[in-house]
Amino acid sequence: MAGRNPYLTAPDAPLATRPFAIVVIGDDGEVRVDVDPATLPNHEPGLPGSVLSILLAAGLDVEHACGGVCACSTCHVYVEAGGASCNEPNDDEADMLDTAPALRATSRLSCQCVPDGSSDLRVRIPRWNRNAVREHG
Ligand code: FES
Repeated sequence: MAGRNPYLTAPDAPLATRPFAIVVIGDDGEVRVDVDPATLPNHEPGLPGSVLSILLAAGLDVEHACGGVCACSTCHVYVEAGGASCNEPNDDEADMLDTAPALRATSRLSCQCVPDGSSDLRVRIPRWNRNAVREHG
C-alpha cells in the first residue's frame, strides 16, 4: 500500500526551510542524519518531509507496513527532543497511535511527523522495532 489514504484529511505540515539533523537511537547506538531542505524528500512513503521519508531516503530501514498512509502503527517512534519543531498530530494520527503498544507523550507516527527544521530531533525507535533500523551500505 502506498499513496494517500482518501479517508483521512491531510495534516497541516509546513516543510523545513533550514538545515537540521535527526539523530536516530537504534540497537547499535545512534545514527545522525543531516537534512538539507533543498533535497528534502517530497515523495512517499509518508507525508512529504516526514521523519519516515527522510530516514528512508538516508538509507535507514524503518518499518512502515501501510506505506505511510496513517493506517497502521508500525512506524511508531518516540521523538525525545525537538518535537516542538514538528507538526501537531491530527485526530487521525492520534487514533492510530492509540493502537500502538507502549504509547508515550513523545510518541509519533514517523510517516505523519513533519519537522519544520527549527531544531534538531532525537528519535528513538521502540525496542520491538529496533532490528528494523539498520544502516545500508
Ligand atoms: S507507516 Fe503505517 S502509519 Fe506510518
